[in-house]
Amino acid sequence: MWQTERLGGAKGLSRAAGLLRAGQTVAFPTETVYGLGADATSREAVAQIYEAKGRPSFNPLIVHVASVGAAARLIELPDTGLRLAEAFWPGALTLVAPMRPDAGIADLVTAGLPTLAVRVPGHPLAQSLIEETGLPLAAPSANPSGRISPTTADHVLDGLSGQIAAVLDGGACPVGLESTIIRVSDAGAALLRPGGIPEEAITEVAGTLVQDSDGTIIAPGQLESHYAPRSQLRLNAHKSLLEEFSLGFGPGVGHHLNLSPTGNLEEAAANLFAYLREADARAAGRPIAVAPIPEKGLGVAINDRLRRAAAPR
Ligand code: TXA
Ligand code: MG
Repeated sequence: MWQTERLGGAKGLSRAAGLLRAGQTVAFPTETVYGLGADATSREAVAQIYEAKGRPSFNPLIVHVASVGAAARLIELPDTGLRLAEAFWPGALTLVAPMRPDAGIADLVTAGLPTLAVRVPGHPLAQSLIEETGLPLAAPSANPSGRISPTTADHVLDGLSGQIAAVLDGGACPVGLESTIIRVSDAGAALLRPGGIPEEAITEVAGTLVQDSDGTIIAPGQLESHYAPRSQLRLNAHKSLLEEFSLGFGPGVGHHLNLSPTGNLEEAAANLFAYLREADARAAGRPIAVAPIPEKGLGVAINDRLRRAAAPR
């Protein structure tokens, strides 16, 4: 349908902004993963995101803005929300809160929910793109629905070439995991998705997390088989079998690939999605054995993504 353009440099940035202002879809880098952006105020533009991804229209999108002030014009942030925003924005945090009546966001973005998910990304290209368009940008991860999130422009093109107008190439995403999603209300902060900011850092600012009260939300964790590679994954594998492709973590010999030979969780997070893709390609259908990852810090989000990649489908 499209001849998807790969854009770079200052000219590429203004081309990307022009396409977005014209109501088209452009993938762009953030510090977490690449997002598939569109004008969040335009129903027609947002509809193209769902279409390109094959995403169910009941699954709402995150809106990306340039500052805490811009976010506060879209959602009603209680005290806890403001503290989290000041502490972690720009960064890998998404806040879900009641949408303001005059927010001007297309109804397709929230899938009809009274709440809106908002994030201020820290990646310089994402910041520049939001500033140049002067628009709030709706952007889910730039992958076909149910597949592994992209952390390079090549990953984006692998999945969505021909379905989107362009991708702005900013190299590899430094964090490598999607944002941590927190719902804020007067009752406190509830974790909807573990991600690039560890829970320990969130609770330092927000105190003990509360249980999410609204069971009607389709949170990402409720979509069982997500991030699906073709090969079967075997998790917590202390040893790999002869016929398996082995994805290691920490010191050890004989792994085909190692997420972090020194056992560094930040490094493992940054490598995770690229290595899952590489493992899937090189395993050529053989099972993939993944070494145990400690369940602390970013390890919680890494294990969450691994469990979903391993889920039966
Ligand atoms: O790091 C990220 O969060 C990336 C970058 C591009 O910002 N985006 C991302 O978007 O991961 P996506 O659509 O793949 O995942 C966001 C999740 C969705 O699965 C959706 O269920 C949830 O956020 N979500 C969005 N709006 C929500 C709302 N109002 N209430 C509850 N969950 C919501
Ligand atoms: Mg996604």
